[in-house]
Amino acid sequence: MTISFAVYDGLAKGIIAEKLSKIHRLSFQGSVEQIWTPVEISSLLLNPDTRAMTIWQNAQVTGFLMWRQAREEAEILTLCILPAFRGQGMGSQILQKFYLLAAKNKIAEIFLEVRENNAAAISLYEKNAFKAVGRRKNYYSDKDALIMKYIMK
Ligand SMILES: CC(C)(COP(=O)(O)OP(=O)(O)OC[C@H]1O[C@@H](n2cnc3c(N)ncnc32)[C@H](O)[C@@H]1OP(=O)(O)O)[C@@H](O)C(=O)NCCC(=O)NCCS
Repeated sequence: MTISFAVYDGLAKGIIAEKLSKIHRLSFQGSVEQIWTPVEISSLLLNPDTRAMTIWQNAQVTGFLMWRQAREEAEILTLCILPAFRGQGMGSQILQKFYLLAAKNKIAEIFLEVRENNAAAISLYEKNAFKAVGRRKNYYSDKDALIMKYIMK
């Protein structure tokens, strides 16, 4: 099995937006998370500070991570792995690949917000050395968000 990664910016929005939107929908199905349409993904990618990284198993995209960089800080906007490919280390692999890219891009700290009851995601982030540093009250319609931070090594 070959695992690979690709990074996309606004130039690739036409090719990738439909695919990422489908993965987002299938990944968040059954949750109250807002699904990102292809148009929303395209317009996010048109921002020069926002990019997406996909993870592939052989010829299939199995998940993606989207982030925004502001000087030495990055914010992970979303990270999702298709249900059929979970529990195989893909979430950790894409995060670790992202850390390598972040180091090249002179990022010092990475932040994210995660729904306080999203146990799988919180556990994934903790396993990859994120720490909870705060909470945003009523950030989601139904729950608070935990703010988590990773300091680049
Ligand atoms: C969160 C998510 C990305 C994890 O992806 P994954 O590929 O299954 O994660 P991994 O296989 O790399 O797991 C790494 C670690 O995460 C944690 N983890 C993953 N799934 C878990 C689950 N269902 N319950 C508890 N912990 C879990 C474990 O600590 C695991 O380490 P272990 O395998 O040594 O136990 C995936 O479940 C997902 O896409 N969920 C829906 C989208 C989402 O909620 N994204 C986060 C938005 S902030």
